[in-house]
Amino acid sequence: MLLHLSTWPEIEAFLGRSKTVVVPIGSNEQHGPTGLLGTDWLCPEIIAHHAQKEADILIAPTFNIGMAQHHLGFPGTISLRPSTFIAAIGDWARSLAAHGFEKIYFLNGHGGNVATIEAAFSELYAEASFARRPLGYALKLRNWWDLPGVDALARRQFPTGHGSHATPSEIAVTQWAYPDAIKTANYAPQIAPTGPIREASDFRARFADGRMGSDPIQATPEKGGELVALAAKGLIEEVAAFGAEPAVAPYLGG
Ligand code: NI
Repeated sequence: MLLHLSTWPEIEAFLGRSKTVVVPIGSNEQHGPTGLLGTDWLCPEIIAHHAQKEADILIAPTFNIGMAQHHLGFPGTISLRPSTFIAAIGDWARSLAAHGFEKIYFLNGHGGNVATIEAAFSELYAEASFARRPLGYALKLRNWWDLPGVDALARRQFPTGHGSHATPSEIAVTQWAYPDAIKTANYAPQIAPTGPIREASDFRARFADGRMGSDPIQATPEKGGELVALAAKGLIEEVAAFGAEPAVAPYLGG
């Protein structure tokens, strides 16, 4: 079920059977000469939208701008500074919680978002604690490539040149969903360099075409489809388990 294609009575009815909602979250940033600027928000959206066709889960609109300051040396990148991102994540979660959603699951598509999302969770938990909110309120962050079996599949599909940015796996996922937007280029070097992530000028100087350690020519729509199917299965299972979590973990003594 997609929130943006639902009505308020439908969401009210959904709340009668579930208090869990999934928010795809990513970033709009350069992904090398052939990766789409939307790659990091498209991947979690593609997986979540696929999953909701096979299970009764609710998917919120995609949070498609994240913490991408280091990519601002490349045209098309849009970034929030961490403090703005924390504030925006907070208001998304507060809005959903105000309707009665108790379990908010963020499916993330950008490694550079992780620290800021975790900081936003700490802010929200602090509010909950100061207000002595009742039991049951929980936030969860999962990178789509960390869903069960997905990273192992990607390593089998791309044993060399997977890298960490503009990877063949994330580009394959977008190729599967948007075959009309597949791009080609000649890569030099074939496998991009690796190195630290600092500010935008340093990033562009180190990573001339925007890739980090990757060889995206290996991406195919078929491999992307395999990744989406496995990730969607894992997402459905994790959302079910998250929604069923007891409010209090059993006390084991000690
Ligand atoms: Ni990416």
